[in-house]
Amino acid sequence: MLPLTARAGIGAADERGFGLYVHWPFCASKCPYCDFNSHVRERTDQARWRDALLRELDHFADLTPGRTLTSVFFGGGTPSLMDPATVEAILRRADERWGLPAGTEVTLEANPTSVEADKFRAFRAAGVNRVSMGIQALDDADLRFLGRRHSVAEALEAVALARASFERFSFDLIYARPGQTVAAWRDELNRALDHAVGHLSVYQLTIEEGTQFHTLHARGELVLPDEELAGDLYEATQDLLEAAGLPAYEVSNHARPGEESRHNLVYWRYGDYAGIGPGAHGRLTLPDGKVGTRTHRGPEPWLDLVAAHGTGAKAFEPIGPAQRLDEMLMMGLRLAEGVPLSRIEAEAGRPWRDVIAVTAVEKLARHGMLELTSDRLRATPAGRQRLNAVLERLLG
Ligand SMILES: C[S@@+](CC[C@H](N)C(=O)[O-])C[C@H]1O[C@@H](n2cnc3c(N)ncnc32)[C@H](O)[C@@H]1O
Ligand code: SF4
Repeated sequence: MLPLTARAGIGAADERGFGLYVHWPFCASKCPYCDFNSHVRERTDQARWRDALLRELDHFADLTPGRTLTSVFFGGGTPSLMDPATVEAILRRADERWGLPAGTEVTLEANPTSVEADKFRAFRAAGVNRVSMGIQALDDADLRFLGRRHSVAEALEAVALARASFERFSFDLIYARPGQTVAAWRDELNRALDHAVGHLSVYQLTIEEGTQFHTLHARGELVLPDEELAGDLYEATQDLLEAAGLPAYEVSNHARPGEESRHNLVYWRYGDYAGIGPGAHGRLTLPDGKVGTRTHRGPEPWLDLVAAHGTGAKAFEPIGPAQRLDEMLMMGLRLAEGVPLSRIEAEAGRPWRDVIAVTAVEKLARHGMLELTSDRLRATPAGRQRLNAVLERLLG
């Protein structure tokens, strides 16, 4: 692949949206499969956390003058454990500093326990208009296996309350669980569809280093479905949800047209976003070019750094032209819409044929993995199922 020389302009990045990600790093307990930056603490000083998040927000707002937010996402961890007043203060400051036009998507991740569901109205009043809930399974034995603190009945009550409280909502399911058959999964997905509205995220269970499941898996005490069964489960998911009107718009995300997560689309379209809170990542187009940002992962060290410097961010990493193109393709090929060639050219400042390995594209197209049309490059459904292998061949 040829090196790129031109720099992406802020204008090009703006077209893809500008998001704010806020990381809340605490959970009531640690799930055995999860390697997200989440920690269990007896108590948290909400006022201290609010002030620190506001200070780091100011830090990033100072660096990005003149930009208007197109989405906000409170992720975690378990942000539904936040005090709604903290959420409100962050949204108010985000509006003052960047602008948060009425109707902008504001999502909060929530765990479906009654403690959290009781706060839904307060989150709505604070400005949250979309909730994403970690249901994970509609089977009580599997919920226990996944270390979840909720039952199916409790989860469905939380879903009903979320539907009544927010304009938009989504929930997450995890499949390819030990012992799962295609028939049982189809049945579970059909039951999930009774409760879904516009959006559903369906993740294949992955074994992440440093988790309890990793230890069990290494000892042979946790056996996952083999590759063939996992493939069948994936295909069953695609077929069933597409037939129900929620096609995959991304590898693991399904939505009725128009109900896609606007915030996650910013990531996948390789737009800019500021990330605040411990372990948050960001991508920003600054006057000197695009940078990757990341903050200290540890909650207490992050608080100390913010107190001392106004931010827990590490040194920004400049993202060179070749890396930008790689990242744009890695993110964009996850989407069913693919990557517009005009976006590649805007990022590269050169004709797309100068920067994309055309012979690799043609070969992958012959194998039914990629499609190149007059205006875009996209992975086929088969290509999205094997995206890592496709990217390896494409990016070399
Ligand atoms: C940050 S978590 C969700 C927020 C919330 N704390 C919860 O658990 O409901 C985001 C989602 O990632 C998914 N996830 C996390 N670890 C996973 C793993 N190892 N395999 C598959 N999905 C995973 C789960 O579906 C989870 O809901
Ligand atoms: S899955 Fe959610 S609740 Fe469980 S540890 Fe991860 S972030 Fe926390």
